[in-house]
Formats: sequence, structure tokens, C-alpha cells
Amino acid sequence: MKQAKMLIDKAFKVSEADERIYGSFIEHLGRAVYDGIYQPGNPLSDEDGFRQDVIDMVKELGVPIVRYPGGNFVSSFVWEDSVGPVEERPKRLELAWRSLETNAFGMNEFARWVRKADASMMMAINLGTRGIADACNLLEYCNHPGGTKYSDMRISHGVKEPHGVKVWCLGNEMDGPWQLGRKTMEEYGRLAEETAKAMKIIDPSIELVSCGSSNINMPTFPQWEATTLEHTYEYVDFVSMHNYYGNPSNDTADFLAAADDMDLFIKSVIATCDFVKAKKRSKKTLNLSFDEWNVWFHSNEADNDLMKNHPWQVAPPLLEDIYTFEDALVVGTLMITLLRHADRIKMACLAQLVNVIAPIMTQIGGGKAWKQTIYYPFLLTSRYGRGTVLAPVAESPVHDTCTHEDVTDLLGTAVWNQEKEELTIFAVNRNVDEDLKLETDVRSLEGYTLVEHVVLENQDMKAANSAEKETVAPCNTDRSSLSDGIITSILGKASWNMIRLKKA
Ligand code: AHR
Repeated sequence: MKQAKMLIDKAFKVSEADERIYGSFIEHLGRAVYDGIYQPGNPLSDEDGFRQDVIDMVKELGVPIVRYPGGNFVSSFVWEDSVGPVEERPKRLELAWRSLETNAFGMNEFARWVRKADASMMMAINLGTRGIADACNLLEYCNHPGGTKYSDMRISHGVKEPHGVKVWCLGNEMDGPWQLGRKTMEEYGRLAEETAKAMKIIDPSIELVSCGSSNINMPTFPQWEATTLEHTYEYVDFVSMHNYYGNPSNDTADFLAAADDMDLFIKSVIATCDFVKAKKRSKKTLNLSFDEWNVWFHSNEADNDLMKNHPWQVAPPLLEDIYTFEDALVVGTLMITLLRHADRIKMACLAQLVNVIAPIMTQIGGGKAWKQTIYYPFLLTSRYGRGTVLAPVAESPVHDTCTHEDVTDLLGTAVWNQEKEELTIFAVNRNVDEDLKLETDVRSLEGYTLVEHVVLENQDMKAANSAEKETVAPCNTDRSSLSDGIITSILGKASWNMIRLKKA
């Protein structure tokens, strides 16, 4: 059997994991809002029309922050349409997804929902079709206590206390040809700089996210980051990253190497931020918000058909990817990669949360909510990946795939929760043909004993869950043992593993 080794020492610290890396995203898109989190009249919904079963799952996932209201949607969002008496809110053509937006659910409803879900709000502003004044008005509406036009408007809408939204994204994917009001890097850099300046005058306590490239393959990456950050660097707290991964050519081994692409993307953005820092002789180090990441490809064809041939529907079933076991493995590796960069990635959003490329689905027609395969690696990483991320020294066999070289069979990380005196190892065997024997040296964690080895595995890479049947779910194994400070584990081929230790 192939062998790998890890040395985990509590002295080798990457950083504290910011809990906001377990964020997610709700966009006015498809059935995310309507049918997803909001369904008045359904017995499964509460007095506000919010699906209680969905809220329970969101809480179980431990999502601390939710980005809203888009995505591409935000680039033509008129926030004023989404507040005030519901019967007076206009229906609008929603251009990003060629749908019909009723505005029955708007910003104040979302603020209420997010509180019920024990999360906070990450608000994106429209820098596509709108600009500085609208961003300021919205911030005044949300965060100013009262006595001004927009704060009093909020109070007149029945919301006395300000929402206190802390994190604001300055537009969305402004480099993308698909984006309404797309900008060149110079145009965006100047607009974002002036918007950020004005917003921080209104509320200096907010954190701002400058819009990065839509993905690593954009022709203007990384010049986009270099140019735009030259404008925004001193005003913002984060630069955003977005990337989706897929397996359209049905090459599982290659798909399982997607985390290496994410790793390269993160390293390149860090390098670009630090270049701008050096150029500006700045003392500030910019952090990264990976505020859209996931697997997304299954629904592409159906979505194109729906938007082209059946437009202007309310809550059409768009981006309803049904995830497989191999997608869950990839999500597990992407989360490990985010953790390995915990020193610079301080926020991240699994895109998205309900029905739209989501871990949580609700049945069309008001039936039950159910958990996709990707729910589980997210749940367990979010639950146990809190504390100090350690940097294991690892030795692993490598393999090549169609588009990747030297892919390590083992991809792992470890999180040490000092308060709870727990150590959690997350490890994926990315080899689709062979099991891996892993020896992990944990001698620096004296007195720690093995609690459990949880595995996500399946013989069928394409196994999926549904409302009727949960085929892919984690289970406990006895494939780890601890002796003299060395854990010996067998990681099945193509498996996600979580090995937990606790001080006796
Ligand atoms: O999450 C789906 C879409 O992906 C978002 O609206 C957009 O920002 C990205 O292209």
C-alpha cells in the first residue's frame, strides 16, 4: 500500500481560522429566496414565512455570515424597490437571470431572516447600473440610527434599530462581460475608491471588499487586481476572489486536483496584493475574501435553455446542480485549501446556500428540505475547523492527471482548538485507484487521545442524494489507531477523512 506521513506540531501555526470562512451566499436567483428560504403559506414555514426546516439546517452548518442580494443580481438591483409596504413594491424584470422579481422579499426581510439563522449580513452594492450616491443612501438606510432621510425611511418601514451591516462588497464581478454595467479596471478602480471613501465617512466601522477578478481564467487577471487595488488599497479591508470548479469532461482524477488550482489562485492574489503594498510603501496587509466558491457545472445546459427560451418567470429552477459523491470530495479539498491559507483568507462564502448550487435543497411544490452530498464536508469542517490552523509537514506520493502535475495523493490540514483541547485532522486521499496508509506524528500534543475517524466514501463517484434517499453521508470507521504519539490511518481511495483527538 502507498504510504504518506504528516508531522503535526502545535508550534507550527498558520493562523487562527476566522469563523467567517464558513460563510455562504443567498442571491435573488432561481429558487434561493422564493421557495428556498421564504415560502409563506407552507406549514414548514414560521410566522414570517421563513422555512424553519431550512433555518435549522443553516444553523446546523454553522454559517456565520451570508452574502446578499447578489451576485450578478446586484448589478441592476434597485434597493428602494425591496423595502416598504409589500403591496407597494414593484415587480421588475430581473436582467441578470432573465427572471421576474416580485420584491415580496427584500432587504429588511433578509435582515430578519439572517438573525433567525444566527448569522450576520454581508451586503453587496450595485456598482453596475448605479453608483456612489445610491451606495451612500443604502448605507444610511441600513446603519444610521435615525434623524436623516434614509434612516427615518427605514424607521417608517417598521425597522427601528439599524441593521448594523458590517461587511460591504463594492460591486460584483465587475470585470465580467456578462455583468450589467461592466467596467474597465481603471473605471472600476476609481468608482470603487470614491464609493469606499464616501461609505467610510458615513460609517468608519464598516469593512469593505474590493472586487477582484471573476475567476483565475479572466484575461485581465491579475492586472485587474494590481490596477484596481492601486486605487482602493487604503480604503478597503479585503479583495474578493470567486471561482467555481467542474468536471465537464468526466475525468475524476483530474477533477480531484481542483484544489491545486484554487491554491495557485490564492497564492497569485496574495502576491498581487503584496506587490501593491510594496509599491505604495503601505504598512497595511490586505486580506482575501473568497466570497464565491463551489462546484458548479451540472446545470449549465438546462440554465441556458431556461433563460433563453423560458424567460421572465418568478423563481425558475435555475442552477439546481445535483451534487455527486466526487463533488463532495472536491468541496472537502477546497475547504482544506481555504484553511491552509487561514493567515490571509479571512472570509469565504460557499456559493450558494439553498437550491442554487447549494448544500440545502427544498422540493419543488413545497415539500421537504434535504441535504446534498456537499452538505457533509462543509458541516464537519465548519463544526470542527475552528481554532488555530497548524501547518503539517507532509510527505506524500504524487500522481499526474490530464491537466495537473505532481498532485499529492494526500491533501491535509489540522486545526487545534486550544480552548476545547481538541485537534482535528482533515485529509483527502485524491488517488482514485489506491488506498493510502498515513502515519501522523502528533507527539507534540501530549495526553491527546483518539476520539473518532469519520469518513466520506462511496464506491460510486456519481452517487447523489435526493429528497427520498440519502446515499452519501459520513460514517465512523475504525481505520485509525494511536500509539506512542503516532496515528496510523488507512485513507480509502478517493475518500474524505476527519480524524479527531482530544486531551484525555
Ligand atoms: O453564484 C452564481 C453566480 O456566479 C453569481 O451571481 C455571480 O457572481 C457568479 O458569476
